[in-house]
Amino acid sequence: MDNYSRVLTSHDTYVQGVPHDVFRELRANNPVAWTEEPAGGRGFWSLTKYDDILYASRHTELFSSRMGIRMEDMDEEETEARRTLMEMDSPEHTRLRRLVARPFTPRAVHGYEDSVRELAREVLENLDGATQFDFVRSVARELPMKMLGGLLGLPNEDLDWLVSRGDALIGNSDPEFTDYVVDQTDTSAYRLLPFRSPVALELFEYAQRALDERRVTPTHDVLSALLEPNADGERLDDPTLLNFFTLMVAAGNDTTRYTMVAGLEMFIEHPELFARLPQMDERELKLLVDEVLRWSSTTMHFRRTVVEDTEMRGQSLKKGDKVVLWYVSANFDEDQFDSPYEFRPDRAPNDHVSFGLHSAHLCLGAHLARLELRVMFEEMAKAWSSVEVDGPSERFRSNFISGIKKLPVKVTWR
Ligand code: HEM
Repeated sequence: MDNYSRVLTSHDTYVQGVPHDVFRELRANNPVAWTEEPAGGRGFWSLTKYDDILYASRHTELFSSRMGIRMEDMDEEETEARRTLMEMDSPEHTRLRRLVARPFTPRAVHGYEDSVRELAREVLENLDGATQFDFVRSVARELPMKMLGGLLGLPNEDLDWLVSRGDALIGNSDPEFTDYVVDQTDTSAYRLLPFRSPVALELFEYAQRALDERRVTPTHDVLSALLEPNADGERLDDPTLLNFFTLMVAAGNDTTRYTMVAGLEMFIEHPELFARLPQMDERELKLLVDEVLRWSSTTMHFRRTVVEDTEMRGQSLKKGDKVVLWYVSANFDEDQFDSPYEFRPDRAPNDHVSFGLHSAHLCLGAHLARLELRVMFEEMAKAWSSVEVDGPSERFRSNFISGIKKLPVKVTWR
């Protein structure tokens, strides 16, 4: 197995940090790189250049999401049972996306700002003046969880459990979050469940109950809205609703959480930036949040499958080959970004791909995530005059999600 294949595929690699040197080398010398997989995987093409990833994302007729969007292979039965919006191509994808998009449009999200701010303040108040705590556990995990709970109309007392279930799914490669570590235990009995994890059954059961309750007594939340027929009288069936619920719990929490942590890391490294935050105008804040998103590159890749034989940079990609789009590499491509390894809070333009590309699968929660990040940064800077590291941090074990899962900090309250 090549050295870069071993580095890129191993979950352990990322406990030390993103292997930027390997991506830089691949971008320069092997931008469409055949990558071997351990343990019987059949290998995949690694795309590491921004333009190639853009091309693959825009040409869904050549690069499909239907056969899976995670690195590992799934057979047809597994993919079918686990299909969410993410594993669809148009026209099926466009139809479902239209049915679920309303609560996530810029206009809808704009209307959430006051409640996000209220929740952010509540998170900080709950610290009860503490000066030393784990930022991940006490702050970054809390806001996305409360926001999702609010959107879905779920009771506060269920949220901690719900997010721990989402963590077990996304964290299916980190033993801290699940008993069913994908590359260390036999998970074949759960192959038809999201993330190959029995935890999905608990989420399905919970979601089914919440939906049934709303069928009897409709409420004013996103779940009730999803039960309504659209203008053409179409309704979502139960398996689609359950998979979408699981997708929101899994996709909306730890992504926002780890990006928030990456932001805090930058504020610790650049105290003058943190001090300036309360005076920043809307544009400056927007640029800052986007640079944090680029820098963090929390979802490091998504996968596509070749639909018909094609060529890229002289390599022959065959029908059925897996192609991994390394978003984390595109975000540091020196042909796209000036001094990519420099954190520039005022970087403009900043066409990062942390939410995917401007194409069919662009993150549905992008506006919501941006809002949560901005408001939390603003509220932290209003509440604290300084923040510093207070002990060793720990990174998540995953080749999919990049993030710091523990960050002890010391703050000074204003
Ligand atoms: C900083 C936070 C977030 C990051 C970095 C992120 C990242 C991404 C990326 C890269 C994709 C594209 C997948 C692909 O290329 O196949 C995606 C899709 C998606 N995200 Fe996010 N996400 C974030 C927050 C959220 C939130 C808050 C929600 C919902 C509450 C959400 C829901 C979704 C959904 C439903 C999709 C699938 C869209 C589709 O396939 O049409 N995400 N996200």
